[in-house]
Formats: sequence, C-alpha cells, structure tokens
Amino acid sequence: MKGVVLAGGLGTRLRPLTSVTNKHLLPVYNQPMIYYPIQTLVNAGITDIMVVTGGNSAGDFLRLLGNGKAFGLKRMNYAYQEGEGGIADALSLVEHFAAEEPVCVVLGDNIIEGNILSAVTAYRQQGGGAKIILKKVPDPQRFGVPRLDGNKVISIDEKPSVPQSDFAVIGIYMYDGKVYDIIRDLIPSGRGELEITDVNNAYIARNQMTWEELEGWWTDAGTFESLLHASRLVAETGANKLTMKIGS
Ligand code: G1P
Repeated sequence: MKGVVLAGGLGTRLRPLTSVTNKHLLPVYNQPMIYYPIQTLVNAGITDIMVVTGGNSAGDFLRLLGNGKAFGLKRMNYAYQEGEGGIADALSLVEHFAAEEPVCVVLGDNIIEGNILSAVTAYRQQGGGAKIILKKVPDPQRFGVPRLDGNKVISIDEKPSVPQSDFAVIGIYMYDGKVYDIIRDLIPSGRGELEITDVNNAYIARNQMTWEELEGWWTDAGTFESLLHASRLVAETGANKLTMKIGS
C-alpha cells in the first residue's frame, strides 16, 4: 500500500499567514504541519510515500523533507499540482506512482492523536473498494458529513447546512486502483474543484465503501481557530502516539 499526503492549495482561510508560504509548512506546536500526516502514514506501516504540493513555496518541501530521514525513510516522492483543482485533482497526480496499488491518502492539514493501523489492516483485508474514517464532532457542517442507515453509509454531504449526522468524514481515505477512473469522470463542484466527497459517493454508489470510527482526537488545521486548537492539542497531549490498537 502506498501513502499520499496532499499538501497543495493556497490556504486562503489562513491569509496573511499563507500569503507567501504554504499552509502545510506552518508550525503546529513544535513541528511543521506536514510532519504529522507523514508520521500518521509511517505509524501505519506505510513507508512508500508521495507528497503532492503546489501553490506557494512548493520547493521548500524538498528542503524540509528531503528523502524523509526525519521519519526513518530512505526516499520521499514528490508531485506538483498546478492551479487549484481541488483534493481529487491532486490525488489524480499520483496515478503514475501508485498505479494499480491501493493508496492511503492523508490531507496535509489533518492531525490525529492516535494511529490508523487497525483501519489500514482492515482495509488491506477487504480486497478493494474504499474506506473512510469518521469522528464525532460538535461542528459537522464544516466537513463532509455521512448519512448513516444503521451501520451503512448511504451518502456523504459536503459541508451541509443541515448535517444528517454528528460525524465528520476525516481527511484520511483508502482507495483501490479504480480511484483514478472515478476522478476522470468527476464534474467540478460549485467552487470549481474536484471534490473528494464525490469520489467517496462514487464508491458508496458501487457498494464498495466501508468506514471506521477514529479513536483519540482529530483536528484539521486550516483555519485560525483549528490551527490554534491543533497546536494546543499537540502541546497538551501529543500526536501520532503509538499506543493504540497496535497488532489488533
Ligand atoms: C476537506 C473535505 C471534507 C473533509 C475535510 C477534512 O474539506 O472536502 O469532506 O471533511 O477536508 O479535513 P476542506 O478542508 O478542504 O474544506
């Protein structure tokens, strides 16, 4: 299984912090933001990783991460996203890297307290399709929100004004090699982007989507409030701890 960290975009919600640099290079407590999603993948045993970046300071990722030595890696792979095509557009750039293999995709501003090893292990055994990870949140309208029928996700609404559950779809996704065909068929949303929620809804329509609920805290860090919150959580409790669900 290959790993992908999506770290492009203009980070407009964080201007002027992002006027000259990339959001994912900003500090979250004592590390650059992008360290956390890379560590999430490494903790799940995924060591063949591609960082997709773009926007401001794209070259600085190479200077910061190099060959991934800080994470015990031998090499790091990079792709460059031109323009503002959205999360699914960024994911389409890894097709040559991941080919037919399954991928675990982590949004570069998503930080977790624990680890996703049990979800990754379950996905490896599921034999294709997709998996999303859900977390109960007080403000689901900020995120992709699942409609649940018992234990089944029947659809996902992107930033709904009336959320149909109190779960957010967190920015960690697992897909099989069909994902690139799905992305090719997507139509840009109202904000002109290829939405990851549309990718997930396509897998749901094919009856090939499973989900797990995350243990431990999760936060994004793409707004002033959530960036501050993320730094506080990391400072107070630490992130990417290796204490949960190992070997389960
Ligand atoms: C994106 C996704 C959304 C998901 C969120 C997780 O939103 O579109 O479905 O819940 O990431 O962080 P964005 O942060 O791009 O607004």
